[in-house]
Amino acid sequence: MVNKKTESTVLPRERAFLVGVEIRQDDNLLGLDDSLQELGLLANTAGLEVVGQSTQRLNTPYPKTFIGPGKIEEIQVLASELFVDVLIFDEELSPRHLRELENIFEETIRIIDRTALILDIFAQHANTSEGALQVELAQYEYRLPRLTRAWTHLARQAGGGGGRAGGVGGVGLRGPGETQLEVDRRDVRKKISNLKNQLEKVRTHRQHYRTRRKRSRIPVIALVGYTNAGKSTLINQLAGSNVYVADQLFATLDPTTRRVELPGGQLALFTDTVGFIQKLPTSLVAAFRATLEEIAEADLLVHVVDITHPNAKAQAHAVHQTLVEIRADHIPMLVAMNKIDLLNDSIRARQTLDSFPNSVAISALTGEGMIDLLLAAKEFLFENLQQIVVRLPYEEGGLIALFHEQGQVERVEHGQKEVLIQGRIPGRLVASFQPYL
Ligand code: GTP
Repeated sequence: MVNKKTESTVLPRERAFLVGVEIRQDDNLLGLDDSLQELGLLANTAGLEVVGQSTQRLNTPYPKTFIGPGKIEEIQVLASELFVDVLIFDEELSPRHLRELENIFEETIRIIDRTALILDIFAQHANTSEGALQVELAQYEYRLPRLTRAWTHLARQAGGGGGRAGGVGGVGLRGPGETQLEVDRRDVRKKISNLKNQLEKVRTHRQHYRTRRKRSRIPVIALVGYTNAGKSTLINQLAGSNVYVADQLFATLDPTTRRVELPGGQLALFTDTVGFIQKLPTSLVAAFRATLEEIAEADLLVHVVDITHPNAKAQAHAVHQTLVEIRADHIPMLVAMNKIDLLNDSIRARQTLDSFPNSVAISALTGEGMIDLLLAAKEFLFENLQQIVVRLPYEEGGLIALFHEQGQVERVEHGQKEVLIQGRIPGRLVASFQPYL
């Protein structure tokens, strides 16, 4: 792929060169080419222009430079021919790799990896103050062990938090005997601790709100899915709202919740969540605690899958892995096979559907299949009754009332300290009774 720099009156986009490495024994979900194609999409989303790429297959990464010396020379030549501004590695680089590579390549070429790129996109897309704080914290935590030469990163392009977080090098005054690097590290540590304090405050507030919502007992349905699967479009279709939809990766960062009426009149809260992606490091996932708490506390998950994507299965697998990591894999899940309006091969669609249990076919764009989805959600939440026997202490008046209100009570025996109730309750409530089963 060669695309020489041309004269232009508009501000030129930064020119990126992708580096992909396939490590044997690695169980990456996507093959090298697919993964690099996704990296290219991420780079575009971040506002970069991809001008070339290079790949290497290795048994293990080189301890110093990640890729081999021959490959480095090849990339140096290409980078200078193609006027490259940023080299983007598809794998996470260790602080040492980064340092060594920065020493080898010219100062004008920045070196980043997939994680840094995703963080940058996150920084551009965080809208709420909590989202922006989360991204800024994740960026500083990522940078702290990697501080080498003054960090300008992609800050120039970042619209939101990224701009604020950029340019760590050179802040603060140097104390006696301190090197500039030590000053930078000290500054970053201070920033990290400030950000953590601020986040804690925002979170306490959010927790209050969530407890109030829980008391209202409207069931919560969390939309999960690979980035760009169509979660925001779905929530718009369901609630007639206007959540930001873009053909970009990670357009959504902050949880958005909308109230939706199910067939039969019951209400449910649908909440949109951050898109998942393969090779998303757990530390980064953990940074989005707000969104992830929404998922972990949901009564039902709707997994939105872009059925037209050639890697739909691998993407669904990546989503599952993340759900396991955040311990949300026990929550019942419906699969919404999205974008069926784009399919002309209905047989293939049927085969794909059959390979996913509990799935419905929808088009979030045209609204096709919405009723099926809502009926299936209703069945999960309100009609899927489970037989249980519980011994509830009298102090648990709320749970006793809950069983009577939402379940079908078959037997009640009053003891001295507790009441035994046998009957059937909606599956989503079983967890609340878990300690007394
Ligand atoms: P992230 O914010 O990255 O997690 O994405 P998302 O899952 O919220 O996806 P979003 O709703 O932003 O949709 C991504 C792209 O897919 C947009 O261009 C949508 O218009 C398009 N899209 C979503 N659903 C459908 C659908 O049913 N059919 C078609 N043809 N396009 C769809």
